Amino acid sequence: MGTENNDDAGVYKISDTLALVQTVDFFPPVVDDPFIYGEIAAANSLSDVYSMGGKPISCLNIVGFPDDKLPIEILGEILKGGLQKANEAHTSVLGGHSVRDKEIKFGLSVTGTVHPDEIITNANAKVGDVLILTKPIGVGILTSALKLKKIKEDGLQQAIKVMSELNEGAGDAMTSVGVNSATDITGFGLLGHAFEMATGANVTLNIFANKVPLLDDTMALAKKGCYTRAASANLAYLDKKLNTGNCDDSIIKILADAQTSGGLFISVSADKADQLIQRLNDNRTSCAEIIGEVTEKTEFMLNLIS
Ligand code: CO
Ligand code: CO
Repeated sequence: MGTENNDDAGVYKISDTLALVQTVDFFPPVVDDPFIYGEIAAANSLSDVYSMGGKPISCLNIVGFPDDKLPIEILGEILKGGLQKANEAHTSVLGGHSVRDKEIKFGLSVTGTVHPDEIITNANAKVGDVLILTKPIGVGILTSALKLKKIKEDGLQQAIKVMSELNEGAGDAMTSVGVNSATDITGFGLLGHAFEMATGANVTLNIFANKVPLLDDTMALAKKGCYTRAASANLAYLDKKLNTGNCDDSIIKILADAQTSGGLFISVSADKADQLIQRLNDNRTSCAEIIGEVTEKTEFMLNLIS
């Protein structure tokens, strides 16, 4: 794959029937429980392979840990969580590397495979496609509410379930049905990643703001001003490319907020949408919601429709 688009992972063609998909991702803890953090970080790292239509085969651990300040058992729990997710994804953890670090960091480098003709990029959305999201939005606001002590850790159960969910089922659904384009929703938020999809294909995406599934309490916390810095940064980047229509400030910031281990955002031809939703439901993805459509390029790359 070339470097002209911001694809989720690197792809290297080995033969006419085999290409490697490679990606790396790591971040500091988003929850207090080390095992769950390990699971979430691993699910997030594996996601970029699924978003490109690939199947992960092997992983390497990447660790930063303050072993001079924290008991090493904590690192053991993080690695156990990561291994559990890697096993669930039918991959092998082959090894890894760790350094002493002031702040804990964990993630995986993941290698996957894909048939070169079946690579799904984030730059091939077609006019007339519908846009489908496979996990609700809101984990950025909820995890920052936890840090600000505006909610307790048990208020995070739904978000934890969503972040820990592998995008394997979503990836399986889209490769079996056949879709035009996909990406996973992570640091740039729904709007940031939608913008990349729009620019990659030189089309405009209409996002139906009220159709986007949200985690419980996301709107209430946003209305209380519980935003993250990432939302403002992402909105500043989108600036004149985004038409916010009549949408209120809370929903705009929610849709721009960074997500951890978010779902797949899929552009599929309208006649295959029902089939894709059926397959996503069969695979028990967190959600399978039509949240937008692809049109010819207009004045804005993204239109929010209330
Ligand atoms: Co990605
Ligand atoms: Co990534």
